[in-house]
Amino acid sequence: MNGRTAKSKAKQREVRDENENLARLYEQVTFEEVHRQVLHLLPTEPVRVLDIGAGTGRDAAAMSLLGHSVIAVEPAEELRSVGQRAHTGHNIDWVDDALPELRSLGRQNERFQLVMLTAVWMFLNEDQRHNALIRIDELLEDGGRLGMVLRAGPVPAGRVMYTVSAAETVSLVSSRGLRLIHQSQQADALGRDGVVWNNLFFEKP
Ligand SMILES: C[S@@+](CC[C@H](N)C(=O)[O-])C[C@H]1O[C@@H](n2cnc3c(N)ncnc32)[C@H](O)[C@@H]1O
Repeated sequence: MNGRTAKSKAKQREVRDENENLARLYEQVTFEEVHRQVLHLLPTEPVRVLDIGAGTGRDAAAMSLLGHSVIAVEPAEELRSVGQRAHTGHNIDWVDDALPELRSLGRQNERFQLVMLTAVWMFLNEDQRHNALIRIDELLEDGGRLGMVLRAGPVPAGRVMYTVSAAETVSLVSSRGLRLIHQSQQADALGRDGVVWNNLFFEKP
C-alpha cells in the first residue's frame, strides 16, 4: 500500500467512524421527544411524506408506523445503510439524493402532503437554501405542510454549519406564499450546551 492509498483509507475510516457516532446520536432521542410541540399538526389520515435529510430514519420509521407512506432522502451512504438496517420492515423508500436539487423526485407529478426538514437547514448556504425552497415548494401538494426544525447554538468542532435564524427562515418561506402556522423553541434533548431548536410549521394554501 503506498502512502496516498493509506491516507485515503484512513480518511474513509475516519468518515465512517464519525457517521457511526452520528447515527448513535440521532437514535438516542425519539420522534415524539423531538417533535412533541408539533405532533398535533401532523396529518391524521395516511399521506405521502417526504423526510429530507432523514439521517438514520428515526422520524421516517415513526411516521410510517403512523400509517404514512414515507420517502426518506439521505445523501450520506453510511447513515442511509444504518437506517435501512435499523428500520427494516417499515414502509420507507430510501433515496440517495440531496438538496437543493433533489433531482430524483417529482417524476409523474409526484407530490407530498408533508415535507419534513429536521436539523438539516443549517447545512445549506444562503443560495442553496433559496434554491432548495423552490424545489420543496414544487414537491409540496396544495394544502400540504412543511415542518422545519432549525438548530441554533455553537457549531461542533470540525463540522461546517451555517447560522440560520427562525426569523430569516419564516421570511424566506413566507415569500413563496406558505403560511406560518406554528413557531416554538425547545431545549436540546441531548443536553448540549447552548443548543436550542426552533420548530416552524408552514401550510401551502
Ligand atoms: C443532523 S442530521 C439530522 C438527521 C435527521 N433528520 C434527524 O433529525 O435525526 C442532518 C442530516 O442532513 C443530511 N444532509 C446534509 N446536507 C444535506 C443536503 N444538502 N440535502 C439533504 N440532506 C442533507 C445529513 O446527511 C444528515 O443526515
